[in-house]
Amino acid sequence: MDIKKVIAQYDPTNPLSKASTPPSLWYTEPEIAKLEIDTVFSNNWLIAARIDQLAKNGDYVATEIAKQPIVLVKGESIKAFYNVCRHHGAQVMETGTGCTRALTCPYHAWSYKLNGNLCSTPKFDGVENFNKSENGLIEVRCEVWQKWVFVCLNDNAPSLTEFLGSLNSEISALQPESMSFHQRVSYQLNCNWKVYVDNYLDGGYHVPILHKGLNSALDGKLYKIETKDRFCLQSCPTKKRDNEFSNVRTGTARYYWQYPNLMLNLYDGIMGIMIVEPISVDKCVVIFDYFFDNSNPKFTAEFRDNSVTVANKIQDEDTYVCESVQRGLASKGYDTGRLSVEKEAGEHLFHKLLFTDLSS
Ligand code: FES
Ligand SMILES: [Fe+2]
Repeated sequence: MDIKKVIAQYDPTNPLSKASTPPSLWYTEPEIAKLEIDTVFSNNWLIAARIDQLAKNGDYVATEIAKQPIVLVKGESIKAFYNVCRHHGAQVMETGTGCTRALTCPYHAWSYKLNGNLCSTPKFDGVENFNKSENGLIEVRCEVWQKWVFVCLNDNAPSLTEFLGSLNSEISALQPESMSFHQRVSYQLNCNWKVYVDNYLDGGYHVPILHKGLNSALDGKLYKIETKDRFCLQSCPTKKRDNEFSNVRTGTARYYWQYPNLMLNLYDGIMGIMIVEPISVDKCVVIFDYFFDNSNPKFTAEFRDNSVTVANKIQDEDTYVCESVQRGLASKGYDTGRLSVEKEAGEHLFHKLLFTDLSS
């Protein structure tokens, strides 16, 4: 397969009124999925942890970014490293979270300080031309923004602030610092990660049809879509109804997406973030983190449970349709489709940014 040709089938110069979706091979071809890992996921800033997971000295998060084992550690500052031992390459910290005094490899017990410096190498006397100071864990770029720690594997990428652009001031104005982490829920879906993002970015096109419950709590006539830099904001006022959706969704709904795979959903006193990660070309995982305003007595344990239950229902409806789309993309009966000018500007931005990364 000529990957370059498949990428070039998408024309990023078309205005929205003339644009089509990328060819279905972008969503079904393993070579494209591999290229995405090396470009989209390796060259951009991605959330790797929440700062509440790295609050105390010694707290760590061992995870994967762009299929690379990464460990984030709180020492004097928060740092990120490849989670790979400099001796024979074993994974130093087991995937997950915890608190430790040092990063000690489970294979031959080489040990690294919280700043990544190699401090102990048992049974290594007599080894020549070996310098501990040159064998620390390999550091990767990491920066803190709001409640999250971002990592970027590309040393030449712009700073996180530049990458986020005006999303920074948009989110700051909504004071997310008043909210605290409540719960994480993860879902695995049988679809390409981009199908999930496309679905999120269709400007509420599917909401009245697929999410009748959510739709009842939104004033859909006032749905707005704005695209800027690397983000899209979809916003809509809620309206009062006496049902389970309206009870837990008030104020203005603001749905932000930041390229490539981050979504932030904000209502009055509630924030839900979603991170979509590819597992393979036709499987992805969506990680939901829920936050609530701690200072507001309205957000009782029951309210929080109801809020998560409502989100789960919406997620199930989206899962159904995303998996259906993935089957359609893999069929001989579909290649590309057109975009609604009124609704699908966010998807258009997403596809153009993807094209830039994939053809770089
Ligand atoms: S591989 Fe880590 S100590 Fe040997
Ligand atoms: Fe949806």
